[in-house]
Amino acid sequence: MPIAANVILGSGVTIQHPELVNLYGCSVGEGTSIGPFVEIQQGVQVGKRCKIQSHSFLCEGVEIEDEVFIGHGVMFVNDRYPKVAGEWKLERVLVRHNASIGSGAVILCGVTIGEGAQIGAGAVVTRDVSQGQRVAGVPARLLR
Ligand SMILES: CC(C)(COP(=O)(O)OP(=O)(O)OC[C@H]1O[C@@H](n2cnc3c(N)ncnc32)[C@H](O)[C@@H]1OP(=O)(O)O)[C@@H](O)C(=O)NCCC(=O)NCCS
Repeated sequence: MPIAANVILGSGVTIQHPELVNLYGCSVGEGTSIGPFVEIQQGVQVGKRCKIQSHSFLCEGVEIEDEVFIGHGVMFVNDRYPKVAGEWKLERVLVRHNASIGSGAVILCGVTIGEGAQIGAGAVVTRDVSQGQRVAGVPARLLR
């Protein structure tokens, strides 16, 4: 089912192609818009008035505050040492208010992206990004 019955959608959430998303066990705040081919997993909280563009993947353990921009094909990660079987440790990611994540960025587990921070297209974010910082590259570094 593209949008499972256990998804909590705030008022005015726009999902351009409801048949082309995969949302389950998550909550999405009012006024947020979600493009096609987006997956949002169990337990993820997305704030109000966010914009999530097509092909992005928000895994369990991710929290997105209000007015966050997420470009196309942004990948969040929650398992630092993935393996086929056995125990794994979920590491959370927090994206604070008004941050912006460029297309194709990978956000490694355990990081916080600060308020108003800007992540360049294609960045691999391996460490916390402070409030208002602009970072890009692999691994992501401060742009001067
Ligand atoms: C990161 C970003 C905000 C920087 O913009 P900016 O401050 O105007 O930066 P500039 O274009 O002046 O570039 C500054 C330097 O950073 C480099 N740079 C810019 N963006 C970069 C990126 N995504 N990855 C790696 N390096 C980048 C430039 O090559 C330049 O390097 P140089 O000084 O050695 O020549 C922007 O380039 C970006 O990636 N925006 C995201 C766009 C996006 O994904 N939109 C989604 C919807 S379409």
